[in-house]
Amino acid sequence: MKKILCAILVLIMTLSVFVCCLSIGTSADGNITKSFSAMLIDGGTGMSQIDVDESQKLLTVDIISDTHIGASGASGVVRSCIQRIESERGSIDALIIPGDLTNGGDEPEFAEFYNILNTYSGSAIVANGNHDYGSFSSTDIHRPIALKYRNQYKGISSDKNYYSTDIKGCKVIVLGDEGNKPNSGTISREQLDYLRSEVAEGAKDGAPVFVIAHWPLRNTNGERFSWPIIPGGAFSKNTSDEILSILSAYPNVFYISGHLHAGLNGRLTRTILNACCVEKHNGVTCINAPSCGKSNHMGYFGKGTGMRMSVYKDRVIIEGRNYESGEWLTRYVYDVPLSVEPVIPGELPGPATETDPVPATSSDADVSVSPVTPTDTGYEDLRPAA
Ligand SMILES: [Fe+2]
Repeated sequence: MKKILCAILVLIMTLSVFVCCLSIGTSADGNITKSFSAMLIDGGTGMSQIDVDESQKLLTVDIISDTHIGASGASGVVRSCIQRIESERGSIDALIIPGDLTNGGDEPEFAEFYNILNTYSGSAIVANGNHDYGSFSSTDIHRPIALKYRNQYKGISSDKNYYSTDIKGCKVIVLGDEGNKPNSGTISREQLDYLRSEVAEGAKDGAPVFVIAHWPLRNTNGERFSWPIIPGGAFSKNTSDEILSILSAYPNVFYISGHLHAGLNGRLTRTILNACCVEKHNGVTCINAPSCGKSNHMGYFGKGTGMRMSVYKDRVIIEGRNYESGEWLTRYVYDVPLSVEPVIPGELPGPATETDPVPATSSDADVSVSPVTPTDTGYEDLRPAA
């Protein structure tokens, strides 16, 4: 019975496509314009017909997630994707990978992941996921390995699993799970305070702020429907509520997560389930990236999938893409209108300008884990690993 229900749900998700169109032209003043038919992310299920002037583009970010190096076939797929991103580096400002870098959190897998990532000449922004911490294994063993490799790659020295960096002067805050559940994250009061302080600093004058975490927020991006039978997979409810409360005080905040393996999905899931991989909650744009190294189980479920996020002065366009083949998935284009024009504080000419990351605190003392609420909802332990 469970298998039949799973099959039905997967079929529904697979059908959750809607044909969108993209064309490229030149305006009267010589600027390159793109015309999109995109899913309008404004709380409804409508479509957006827009022309964007490429000269008004402020930022371009590629996002791939859940690379799961160590899983069957993942290394080859991810290597191809990184090579493509590197070949187009002149047109992007940053690469973001929000966790589950590896499949099991073992040392050889991290070595392989960063070996592949080093073929990208920029400094990608990486978060760790539940699989990087060993998932159902002991987090005490795998967490230090994950942090060691992250520190080596980012050139920092910190035992915190959260840090901040920037893209063209725009604040990027990377969050990390400090709990030990394989299928729901919690973060300490210290980390929440860090987030509050960093986002306040970064969001001045309407500057975009990017928050990266492996876990989506509870009840966003279809997390309730992403794992059939036993649903969910997100930060705990109270952690999610606190994060959203902090972020919703500012315009132009983007929360980018992975974990769900929910693929690129769209109009049907929005209509039937009120769910989509790009949503707005209390003014915060919540983006859930599909798995790149493994197949997905909603909408477009192929491996090698990711997103290109383009920030313009009045909107953000998110385009689904198969980075392995290079194909733009024009059925999965999302239009997020902005209420406040973003200001790029460190706007500089040229490609990727990520700067050195800032460790979470000046202290390298042990992380004091104090989950926001010890009780929470209590059902996370039953959920399947992403
Ligand atoms: Fe994953």
